[in-house]
Amino acid sequence: SGKQGYAVAAALRDLGASVTLISGPTNLAAPAGVRRVDVETAQQMLEASLAAAAQAEVFVAAAAVADYRAAQIAGQKIKKNDADLSLALTRTEDVLARVRAAFPQLFMVGFAAETEKLEEHARGKLARKGLDLIAANWVGEGKAFDQDDNSLTVFGKDGSAHTIASASKAEVARELAGLIAARLPRA
Ligand code: CTP
Repeated sequence: SGKQGYAVAAALRDLGASVTLISGPTNLAAPAGVRRVDVETAQQMLEASLAAAAQAEVFVAAAAVADYRAAQIAGQKIKKNDADLSLALTRTEDVLARVRAAFPQLFMVGFAAETEKLEEHARGKLARKGLDLIAANWVGEGKAFDQDDNSLTVFGKDGSAHTIASASKAEVARELAGLIAARLPRA
């Protein structure tokens, strides 16, 4: 969720990183000392991500990016009639997959929000998107997106699994930032 992403940005800043936060519309304040780039569409997020990744050592994707967009934008108001209306949707691009293709050496972290088969789905995304780590969390009624607390299971491409127990999003972010930092090549 947005809040978890903002907390990760703050936690990486606290470890000394210079952080660029690419954000969709939100009423959250940018964490102090973090450069925020505002975007509205998945396409804008992709372009901002490719630009930022060129300077980066680590790329974390915490956003729930729209997977589809309307295939056509009407130039005029769509007048109703008695029939039902179907909208054709077309796929947006996958930001993580595109950033990985452009930057094969970048350390990349994704999130996986799942309602079932958490480990299977998260490990599938880890492999498919070429990630180094993926932070998986349960979503659904009363879980994560609505809540102040969150818990994550972090899977690594090396097969590792690490559970971060339910805690505030700030605390969860600190633990995730620690896992990331521990895996980076030393400068
Ligand atoms: N993601 C992305 N670009 C998209 C959609 C998602 O980079 N267009 C990233 C998210 O930021 C997240 C990861 O991919 O880090 C997984 O997102 P999620 O919504 O859980 O999965 P999807 O890739 O949409 O897969 P599925 O529809 O199978 O759940």
